[in-house]
Amino acid sequence: MTACEYRPGLEGIPATQSSISYVDGHQGILEYRGIRIDELAQKSTFLETAYLLIWGGLPSKQELNDFQHEIRYHRRLKYRIRDMMKCFPESGHPMDALQSCAAALGLFYSKRALDDPTYIQDAVVRLLAKIPTMVAAFKLMRKGNDPVQPRDDLDYAANFLYMLNEREPDMLAARIFDICLTLHAEHTINASTFSAMVTASTLTDPYAVVASAVGTLAGPLHGGANEEVIAMLEEIGSVENVRPYVEDCVQRKARIMGFGHRVYKVKDPRAQILQGLAEQLFAKFGRDAYYDIALELEEVINEKLGHKGVYPNVDFYSGLVYRKLGIPTDLFTPIFAIARVAGWLAHWKEQIGENRIFRPTQIYQGPHEQPYIPVSERP
Ligand code: SDX
Repeated sequence: MTACEYRPGLEGIPATQSSISYVDGHQGILEYRGIRIDELAQKSTFLETAYLLIWGGLPSKQELNDFQHEIRYHRRLKYRIRDMMKCFPESGHPMDALQSCAAALGLFYSKRALDDPTYIQDAVVRLLAKIPTMVAAFKLMRKGNDPVQPRDDLDYAANFLYMLNEREPDMLAARIFDICLTLHAEHTINASTFSAMVTASTLTDPYAVVASAVGTLAGPLHGGANEEVIAMLEEIGSVENVRPYVEDCVQRKARIMGFGHRVYKVKDPRAQILQGLAEQLFAKFGRDAYYDIALELEEVINEKLGHKGVYPNVDFYSGLVYRKLGIPTDLFTPIFAIARVAGWLAHWKEQIGENRIFRPTQIYQGPHEQPYIPVSERP
């Protein structure tokens, strides 16, 4: 086998063959199982999209009804997981709480029957159904409050907002939140999906796979950027401060949160759609002053860094949508995780049966044949 050249961050190196999603970074195209993201955002729902990604095709009416029923039935948490959550520090980040709870599911369902279709179906349903309940429960419990039980009469997005805010959501808000989940569901071999695949390649259980991916998504260069964008807009504080802020970042070669992408060298199509969703919410519930700062930021960065292909990515406008929905900033990345569980599970399921553990190589740059020097003889 010929050795490949080393590419930092594995840039441009195919890690797998997949038919789940496709990105054209120069045209700004994203497709899930061949369907354009803007069509899915407009016409589908997150649960239907999750079914499409995981099982490879749009469900029949009966299949969709059965799937929705299964998800509603499995939304509740084991009381032992809630009790575990009571021990978490109030100051703990919700992504760490989510990673702990996702792994803890494995304590109850860890059997690794990867050749059993029922086991695979059960794992998919449990993770998709319970992750939102975990996120909402931690938000309430970290303040010492009881969590709100899921409601079977509410759909996926409305039920999450109900558990989070302890009141039924506005219909437009619930629909927009559902579209946000669809937009964040899958994105080829991003860092957290790759992490899921590496973990899955050892044939461990899907709960450990998702726990690995949650930990990877949390970083500010990946899913954690949506939370950092709001902090950045707060720091900039006014439209007048945008240009000096950007010029300082460029001068320091600092990364500006919510911009740039390994694949997209044009504006992320998801950012385009999220910007429209934010404007719909502003029209109904009032404009967010941060939006004017964001618009100026996009314009100035286009001028200063557009030539490098640095444009808004999915994390740039998502936070403005979530703020308008009354979601605390430190829950933005857990919400990204709620959606991306669909993509992680799709790749986990697609990989089952390949039995090829991920084990790359390295270019060794250290010394050879070094002597051992006893500590008594060291300086
Ligand atoms: C997500 O992979 C996915 O698909 C991820 C994701 C998904 O759906 O799973 O799309 C979700 O993670 C979106 C990205 C969220 N992260 C951020 O917003 C953090 C800020 N972005 C950057 O850190 C960066 O753009 C990355 C990490 C996203 C991509 O980094 P790359 O591919 O390693 O790009 P690079 O560092 O090689 O940059 C190329 C050039 C560099 O300039 P030069 O050194 O060539 O002169 O572009 C510049 C960079 O300095 N650049 C930026 C920049 N991003 C790239 N300059 C300023 N600000 C930025 N954000």
